[in-house]
Amino acid sequence: MFRSLICRSLIIHKLKPNISSREKIRTFHVSAGLRHGEYEWMDPKSEAEVVNITYVDKDGKKTKVRGKIGDNVLYLAHRYGIEMEGACEASLACTTCHVYVNHDFVDKLPPSEEKEDDLLDMAPFLKENSRLGCQIVLTKELEGIELQLPKATRNFYVDGHKPAPH
Ligand code: FES
Repeated sequence: MFRSLICRSLIIHKLKPNISSREKIRTFHVSAGLRHGEYEWMDPKSEAEVVNITYVDKDGKKTKVRGKIGDNVLYLAHRYGIEMEGACEASLACTTCHVYVNHDFVDKLPPSEEKEDDLLDMAPFLKENSRLGCQIVLTKELEGIELQLPKATRNFYVDGHKPAPH
């Protein structure tokens, strides 16, 4: 199985050599046959994979989570009952996954793409360390990252759809 995953990764690289590493991880998830959010329900297979993350809710309550490399922090939040909505299910069409990234980690994230910036411009309570949670995929470099939820988010996604945790 591991070999077939490597092969798929190489195929992605050959077909799309210029896509970002974040996009490669996303594509890799899809090609590995998992639906959105399923990967995040799998426990780390080894300590080397573990990436610890802390979510801070709008009232300041902290929840520490043992994530792993490749986890999308939106779906990881759903697994652990954190109130990060994610109305458009990571399709970059809302701002309900808005988070503040603690300052030590802002520069460790890949820069936001134009679409993410455009959406963030419409987010209530925007700060300079704002990002969309669904665009953050854990890497080992993000060990110890803290993500705080804003006081409120606005759901302007087409039909007000609220996804249920998988
Ligand atoms: S879930 Fe809609 S943009 Fe992140």
